[in-house]
Formats: sequence, structure tokens, C-alpha cells
Amino acid sequence: MADVTELMRMATRARDNAYAPYSNHPVGAALRTDTGRVYAGCNVENAAYPVGNCAEQAAIAAMVLGGESRIAEIVVVGPNGALCTPCGACRQRMREFAAPDMRFHACTETDVLMTMTMDQLLPESFGPDNLK
Ligand code: THU
Repeated sequence: MADVTELMRMATRARDNAYAPYSNHPVGAALRTDTGRVYAGCNVENAAYPVGNCAEQAAIAAMVLGGESRIAEIVVVGPNGALCTPCGACRQRMREFAAPDMRFHACTETDVLMTMTMDQLLPESFGPDNLK
């Protein structure tokens, strides 16, 4: 099963393929599901700025395409050793597929800078249960 170091390696590799010519802020994400499989994604920007996608969004889309829907752990690696915490929309995107104790790690290529649970990232969140 992929540990955090392996997720950091995959997120870094994904970041290296990011398309971020407008922000110059390449980001990679790698998540492990409850079955142990790993999915990665990078941000993809667009000349029409709001059309761009976040790295977490791409990793989640790959997971869904892979037929899976439970995030056990996720790593994000930003540029230049900078702390890269998820935007509000990606917190909600992760929330759809994560338990409250799911761990999010903001990392560099080599270090974990910050770890937060899903519930810390998005307290009192709205999720699938609210529609039952
Ligand atoms: N970005 C991500 O891909 N993930 C994050 O967690 C934060 C921000 C991207 C979006 C945009 O392409 C660039 O970083 C600058 O905001």
C-alpha cells in the first residue's frame, strides 16, 4: 500500500506535468483510495482563467474514472517548497468522497508541511447525507 512518501513522489511527478503558464504555480496531487490504489492529477490552466482546473480536481476525476469513490489519504505538492493548501471548491470536492478523519497532507517534494483532517479542512460541511 502506498505510504505518504510514495504519494509525495507521485504528486511531485504530477506537478512536473502541470500546465500553469498564467499563475506559474504548478501543483500536483496524489490520493490513495480505501482499496489502496493511487490516482494523481495536476492543475491545468486556461487562457480563459476561470476554466482552469485544480490538481485535486484532476486526481478525483481520475479516481472516479477508475471506478472508485473513497479517498483514504491525499497529498498535494506545490512549487518551490511553498505550503499549498486546498481552495474552498476542492475542499468541497474532497468532502464528497472522504470521511471526516481522511488526512490531507500539504507537502514539498521531501517533507510534510501540514496535515489536516477533512473535518478540519471543512467543518460543519454539507455532504451527500444532507440530501437524504
Ligand atoms: N491550485 C491547485 O491546483 N490546487 C491547490 O490546492 C491550490 C491551487 C492551482 C489552481 C491554479 O492553477 C493555481 O494553483 C494558482 O491558484
